[in-house]
Amino acid sequence: MSARLRLGVNIDHVATIRNARGVAYPDPVRAAIVALEAGADGVTAHLREDRRHISDADIERLAAMLRERGRPLNLEMAVTSEMLNIALKHRPPAVCLVPERREERTTEGGLDVAGGHNWIAPFVEKLRQTGSRVSLFIGADPLQIEAASRTGAEVIELHTGSYCDAAREGAANADEILAALRAGAQQAASLGLEVHAGHGIDYETVAPIAAMPEVRELNIGHFLVGEAIFVGLAPAVAEMRRRMDAARALT
Ligand code: PXP
Repeated sequence: MSARLRLGVNIDHVATIRNARGVAYPDPVRAAIVALEAGADGVTAHLREDRRHISDADIERLAAMLRERGRPLNLEMAVTSEMLNIALKHRPPAVCLVPERREERTTEGGLDVAGGHNWIAPFVEKLRQTGSRVSLFIGADPLQIEAASRTGAEVIELHTGSYCDAAREGAANADEILAALRAGAQQAASLGLEVHAGHGIDYETVAPIAAMPEVRELNIGHFLVGEAIFVGLAPAVAEMRRRMDAARALT
């Protein structure tokens, strides 16, 4: 049987709802505690340059809460010196470097590690020196995976967004995208990288991703926060956990 698959719950969109009114609720830290109690292994948060959801104060409070509980914070951030200084201050156990453009609705593509080696590799090194495990959020492209392994990062997170969109739409190329993700996971593992996956995952798309034996962690947010409106966050996280474990047990 494959190694246990971890679940990181991304609580960004709890902050999106809070910020729609500029008040103090719903509190993403409270959501993080509920997610942990319902079966999440860690918590993921993306501090965006424009602070459209998670704020600096949220990161302070999340980091403190997670330290106290001995659970990991996975800080998603752009490759900028502002973000590097914040990460070096908090020293989160995990950092995921992501591309970021202000005008995008969410993280739309993977990092160009092949083209940006000289910019990215020093970030990886500085983050590793202060004890963070660094992950690079990339597409399942052999060139990018190979380039990631040369930066010193220990982890890659494969971008599952286009697979999830294609599967939901019943698009003809969904299987092809899934096969590329599988091949990417195998390539990365053979290069000694730990493999994570995330973006756009819901109850319908989680099983084939969770069934990839090389994948060790999924990071899931938007769907869970949406589902929480109907069933509550704890049951939504518990159901995702159940589906992940069921898919994994078949491998
Ligand atoms: N992983 C990364 C690197 C991301 O940027 C995001 C979105 O912030 C996620 C996972 C979670 O994606 P979603 O909110 O669509 O589940």
